[in-house]
Amino acid sequence: MKAPTADAALGPCLYTAERIAATVTRMAEDIATAYAGQPLLLLGVLKGALYFTADLSRALARIPDGPSEIIVDYICVGSYGASSRSSGKIELIMDSAVPVEGRNVVIVEDIADNGLTLEFLRALLERRRPASLRTCVLFDKPSGRRVDVKLGYVGLPVPDAFVVGYGLDYQELYRNLPYLAELRPPSPAGNF
Ligand code: IMP
Ligand code: MG
Repeated sequence: MKAPTADAALGPCLYTAERIAATVTRMAEDIATAYAGQPLLLLGVLKGALYFTADLSRALARIPDGPSEIIVDYICVGSYGASSRSSGKIELIMDSAVPVEGRNVVIVEDIADNGLTLEFLRALLERRRPASLRTCVLFDKPSGRRVDVKLGYVGLPVPDAFVVGYGLDYQELYRNLPYLAELRPPSPAGNF
């Protein structure tokens, strides 16, 4: 799909909807192989992974010989004192509903930037004694990393830029774009 250019704040399209869909399918295949015949809990991180979790779970349903059953749940975290990009102080806004203990859990996140959000979630969920715990990120911004969090499944690399679309927002806008774009012009320092 060609990215519309009506919004002046939107920069170049980094990944089209088609490229994202192909990546989600590839990641679903990897997960299906790893959890073949086993139950799996996909835990999407709101709000950014709203669409990714939905698409990943449906891509898994199209693959034969994958997990024996798939449960989809969500957890909502935020970083306080920041409008969008993580400030480093993560808080739990809404807990997941399905108990994690004894389950194979895959945390489904939109993007790994400094890594603190995933580290927070990993520590939180590890305490609940899952049978196994892995992370799955659609976008990876390695230039922003502050903690060395282990990424189990990784989709697409993104440059050191602020990106929006496919769940990623800037001040709650642009999440519903079906593609990933850079935000333009760069926001003033300290605004993320
Ligand atoms: P981390 O804790 O820095 O790894 O950041 C994770 C969270 O920061 C993501 O779930 C996003 O909500 C947000 N984030 C990081 N980079 C971007 C970006 O380029 N655009 C939009 N949100 C971002
Ligand atoms: Mg966000």
